[in-house]
Amino acid sequence: MKHPIIIDTDPGIDDAAAISIALNHPDLDVKMLTTVNGNVGIEKTTANALKLTQFFNSNVSVHRGASHPLLSDIFSASSVHGESGMDGYEFPEVDASTLSSHNAVAAMYDLLINSKEPITLIPIGPLTNIALLLTTYPEVKTQINEIILMGGSAGRGNVTPLAEFNIYCDPEAAHIVFNSGLPLTMVGLDVARSSTLIHAKLEKLKSLNDTGRMLHQLFSHYRGDDFEYGINIYDAYTILYLLHPELFQIVEARVDIETTGELTRGATVTDLKSAYPNCTVVMGIETDIFEKIFFDALTYCK
Ligand code: RIB
Ligand code: CA
Repeated sequence: MKHPIIIDTDPGIDDAAAISIALNHPDLDVKMLTTVNGNVGIEKTTANALKLTQFFNSNVSVHRGASHPLLSDIFSASSVHGESGMDGYEFPEVDASTLSSHNAVAAMYDLLINSKEPITLIPIGPLTNIALLLTTYPEVKTQINEIILMGGSAGRGNVTPLAEFNIYCDPEAAHIVFNSGLPLTMVGLDVARSSTLIHAKLEKLKSLNDTGRMLHQLFSHYRGDDFEYGINIYDAYTILYLLHPELFQIVEARVDIETTGELTRGATVTDLKSAYPNCTVVMGIETDIFEKIFFDALTYCK
């Protein structure tokens, strides 16, 4: 059964891995990519999304989204992903005319409200677009199957001691999404940190296919946490969880977003004992199992 999905993204090196799998896997039907300000600015994240659809000769549409968080100042991760947001691989220049629209929220609304089946949203960047969608067009909620997002952490953060980047960038947007009442799965830092792929394991990418070589060059420039040891391909875990949920350890929890604390802003406060859980939290996977499903998924790519 093909899963119909929308990916909201801020490419982003780990976004590139997630999008590569999603655009090529036989069990996934990517309805559109929507871009958001995040790792780098909206012009670059949008150009990077177009580079990826062009790389795969994909006709999946790309729609430009929010250029700024709801309230926060812009916080860049160019130190992690490079100035372009996808440093390390020389993609051909993209034709800007291939951008389908400059209004991702309206595009998501039009697709959802006219869809014959509910669609799964896969946000892998700050949640600005998703919050705008749910507050501008609350009637689309009946057309959303679930939200599986990369963001947050049940434990430590990666921007501050308690805040993960996607949530830290736009905590108000995250608050809206986590309180939307929609079926929600948080794929936070925890699961990737439980299954970091060491650099020696990633060498296989070079002999896999063109996509493997592209990702290997990107990963070589990815300065995520623990990069001396290996790569946490955070965003890819959302897609692989959707494809193989049974392989992951999960817990039901109450997750609230800290939006005011001077030291805690952007924290996903995760109560594992709450009687009122609002989301599934993906906590772990065996490293060998993750490595297998990651490389198996890439075999569908060019
Ligand atoms: O904290 C990791 C997340 O922030 C990933 O989505 C990465 O691409 C960045 O957006
Ligand atoms: Ca991302």
